[in-house]
Amino acid sequence: MSQLSQALPGFDLADLHLAEEDIPWVPNGQGLSFKPLHFSPGAGWWVNLIRVERGGHISRHRHLAPVQGYVLQGAWRYLEHDWTAQAGSYVWEPAGDVHTLEVLGDETMITLFTVHGAIQYLDDQGNLVQQDDARSRAALYMEHCRREGIQPRALVA
Ligand SMILES: [Fe+2]
Repeated sequence: MSQLSQALPGFDLADLHLAEEDIPWVPNGQGLSFKPLHFSPGAGWWVNLIRVERGGHISRHRHLAPVQGYVLQGAWRYLEHDWTAQAGSYVWEPAGDVHTLEVLGDETMITLFTVHGAIQYLDDQGNLVQQDDARSRAALYMEHCRREGIQPRALVA
């Protein structure tokens, strides 16, 4: 059992349903929030909804393992690629890809991402600024729940 599972005494692997209201949007920067659904710190992956408001962006980052995305709402692009993702798009981000997300249009974008491995945020010179992984992302969620007095419900296994 991981430390995170131990931190969730009510967690039950048989409890595989989460309603929309069970999980909060966790603020993670200006105009940016995530709704965690499932963390697997041991295996190094997590599933979450990412929400970025109009005019927002996710700073330049590199993935150490593949990421899959499915766009539920809005439109966005990566500055480094020539395609546009919109509601209904499926996105594959291979290990090593470096990109910067920019929201297009007036609508808030919401995308379901399954993220394997770490995300490394980079400065303009390509230097590592910050790193995120299943464990650190779960810790952000737990901290938010503690601060807001919310019972953690995202799956951790
Ligand atoms: Fe990415």
